[in-house]
Amino acid sequence: MKLDVVFSPRELAAGEVAGRVVLVIDVLRATTTICAALDHGARAVIVADDMSEAARLAQALESSGVLLAGERNSVRIPGFQLGNSPLEMTPERVQGKTLVMTTTNGTNALLATAGAREVLVGAAVNLSAAGQRAHDALEEYGDLLILCAGREHSFALDDAYVAGCLAVRALGGRRRRKGLNDSALVAVDLVSRYRDRTERVLALSRAGRELAERGFRADVTAAAVIDAHPVLPVFHERRIAIAQSEAPA
Ligand code: MLT
Repeated sequence: MKLDVVFSPRELAAGEVAGRVVLVIDVLRATTTICAALDHGARAVIVADDMSEAARLAQALESSGVLLAGERNSVRIPGFQLGNSPLEMTPERVQGKTLVMTTTNGTNALLATAGAREVLVGAAVNLSAAGQRAHDALEEYGDLLILCAGREHSFALDDAYVAGCLAVRALGGRRRRKGLNDSALVAVDLVSRYRDRTERVLALSRAGRELAERGFRADVTAAAVIDAHPVLPVFHERRIAIAQSEAPA
C-alpha cells in the first residue's frame, strides 16, 4: 500500500502522477467552489490555465450557457461573471451552466495531473464522498496520491489538514502507517492535532487570514462545513463533472 501526500504541485517529481488515482485539494477556495457549483446544478467546470485561455475556451462553447469564473489576489477577474467564492455558486446563478474557471493555485494543481489514471476533486465540503472514493481506490489499486494546491508553490495548512482528513478516510480502520510518505504522516498527525476544529484550522491558515482581510471570512466558514456539498467531482480532459454513478438521470 502506498499513500502519498504532496503539499504543492511544484514538489511533484517528473512522472509522479502517471497512472495513479490523484485527489486534488484547494480548500480555500477552488475545490470548495467547484463542489458548490456542481452540487447546485452546474453542468461542468472547464479548467483554464489563465484569463486569456478562459476567454478563448468560453468563446468556443455555446455562449448562452457559459459563465467565466475565477480570481486573482482573491478577487473576481474583471469581465468575469463569477469569482471564486462557494457562496456565489447559488442554484439561481449556476444551474444548467458550464463554468470556465481559472484561479491562482487550485486550477494549476488540477492541470498538473496530466497522465493520471483518475483525478478527483476533494474538499471538506465533500469529505465523505471524496474519502469513500479515496478508500475504494486504495483498496483497488493499493495506491493513492493526494495533491494539495498549496499557496504560492508551498505548504498551505488548510490543504494539508484536509489532505490528512482524506488520508484517514482512505485508510479506513488501518492503523499501520507503513506505506505513507513523510508528508502523509504529517497530514494525518494534523487531524489529531485539530480534530473536529476544521473552521479553526482554516481560519488560522495564511489563506484563511488573507481571505478574512479581503472580506471573504464567510467563505472560510463555508469551506469548513463537512459534507455541505456531498458530490464527487471528477476531472477529465480539462472538464470537471459529477461522477457518472452520482449524476442525476
Ligand atoms: C487559489 O487558486 O489559490 C485560490 O483560488 C485563491 C483564492 O481563493 O482566492
